[in-house]
Amino acid sequence: MVWAYVDGGAESEQTLQANRSSFDRWSLVPRVLTGNQGSGLRTKLGDTELSMPVLLSPTGMTGLVHWDGERAAARAAEAAGTRAVISTASSYTVEEVAEATSESHFFQLYPWTSLTTGEALSKRFIDRAKAAGYAALFVTVDVPVGGNRLSERRRGMGIPPTLTPARALSAAVRPRWAYGFARHQRVSARMLVDERGTRAAVASARAQQTLLRPDLCWDDFARLRELWDGPIHIKGILAAEDAERAVDLGADGVMVSNHGGRQLDGAPAAIDALPAIVDRVGGRVPVLLDGGIRRGTDVVKALALGATAVGIGRPYVYGLAAGGQGGVEHVLEILREEIVRTLTLMGVADVSELGPDHVRRA
Ligand code: FNR
Repeated sequence: MVWAYVDGGAESEQTLQANRSSFDRWSLVPRVLTGNQGSGLRTKLGDTELSMPVLLSPTGMTGLVHWDGERAAARAAEAAGTRAVISTASSYTVEEVAEATSESHFFQLYPWTSLTTGEALSKRFIDRAKAAGYAALFVTVDVPVGGNRLSERRRGMGIPPTLTPARALSAAVRPRWAYGFARHQRVSARMLVDERGTRAAVASARAQQTLLRPDLCWDDFARLRELWDGPIHIKGILAAEDAERAVDLGADGVMVSNHGGRQLDGAPAAIDALPAIVDRVGGRVPVLLDGGIRRGTDVVKALALGATAVGIGRPYVYGLAAGGQGGVEHVLEILREEIVRTLTLMGVADVSELGPDHVRRA
């Protein structure tokens, strides 16, 4: 069930697959005899210095895969010199993550209540993130309703998870996971439980639709811009017109994303949507991308096509499941090594030198 939650996508999983296969349709064009050794990975995102152009994208209920959840992921991110984006639906609250870390991480907001009619919940989340010292806000706009995730439903993913004999057996053969799960009980979206109480939060999550707002509109985004005075990124953009509108309304960054293929099946692959958005934004704000990044070469392709940095979702969740904080550190280390080697093979010294000449549509 947990595997289906992490690994699965929406409906026929076309977008999930396209996120990967589309990277294969872009070739890297190396330059030889440059004398350059790839070493420059430092990237600036607003005021935040990153040691590498890779962030941990927000993932909800990360405590399902490992009891230490987002705390472990955020500690791993800062050990690698980068940052985690902490989900509204995280298993640890923004305060708990802040307490467990020493850097300021980023907060992802699901604008679950309309800001014009029922602002309270979103405002509470923003106020808490602000008070806990978060450095930037990522507003996720591609979940007006939950995606139709069939594999999750087949495997009985729900809140709380339903216990069947098969699932009990499955837990019994994973004693370490089961012990952490039973001891720490970090299954639910903790911030929501704080604000609404356990029963209401469980009921909301079960009903799925009670908190999601299909009527969210650009006015709501403009209102969020007023509520949060720090950097604000809009996550889940696939159309150049939407990217432009967000920037006009004061977004400090645009994250090209299809939610890892978990929302609209049939949406374009993230890497294919990137060039037109980079073009339309025209350097006014950084453009980020997530969806399908699995290798250093993927990161280099995205940067060459104009992304400032990328996010990873599933790769670090797998690392977390396998080895807690150390597992996530290992994932980031593998990516760093791969980026360095790729740059050297490309004859490029620093990620800032990457440009359209380094990629070609295969
Ligand atoms: C997500 N994603 C996500 N996004 C978001 O804005 N808020 C959230 O709470 C979640 N939750 C979540 C849970 C899990 C298990 C996954 C795998 C993903 C989407 C995530 O931020 C990101 O867009 C994708 O995961 C990127 O694709 P890859 O790297 O998984 O291919």
